[in-house]
Amino acid sequence: MSSKFRLINFLSTSVLLASVGLFLVSCSSGSSSSSIALSVEAQAGQKLSSASGCASCHGSNGEGRVGPKWIGLADSQVTMSDGTTVIADDAYLYTSIHEPNAMRRKGSVGQMPSNQLTDEEIASIIVYIRALK
Ligand code: HEC
Repeated sequence: MSSKFRLINFLSTSVLLASVGLFLVSCSSGSSSSSIALSVEAQAGQKLSSASGCASCHGSNGEGRVGPKWIGLADSQVTMSDGTTVIADDAYLYTSIHEPNAMRRKGSVGQMPSNQLTDEEIASIIVYIRALK
């Protein structure tokens, strides 16, 4: 239980840092570029998602394939297979990765395989997912 809280704390801190980083990047780089400027933390998560095979289903830029797209996922409203809606917050993202298929999205076709990611690795991927607005 307490380790879960520590994770959430860790996540909020990383997310905060990542957002500050993104904010600074977007201030300094102008707004014309369409490619997303990723913070160092988010890039680490992106690398991890390729190395762990996530990108083959979720896209190398989070654009989605067999798996749902990650772009715009964080904090969006998701409809589950039983018709209920949830907000894709950190807890939702953590559970989706830690226990694949514990929750089914409405209309999901594929199955997500389980993985051996540590909490820190999951946190890193969540920072990346959060950067994909
Ligand atoms: C074989 C394809 C496949 C692979 C590999 C895969 N996923 Fe998935 N993923 C899916 C599918 C399909 C779903 C939707 C599952 C559902 O709704 O029950 C999903 C759902 C998710 C969700 C929730 C998305 C949402 O919109 O609700 C997250 C987050 C996620 N995956 C992260 C990961 C991460 C991180 C990895 C790598 C460790 C990974 N996935 C590897 C297919 C995959």
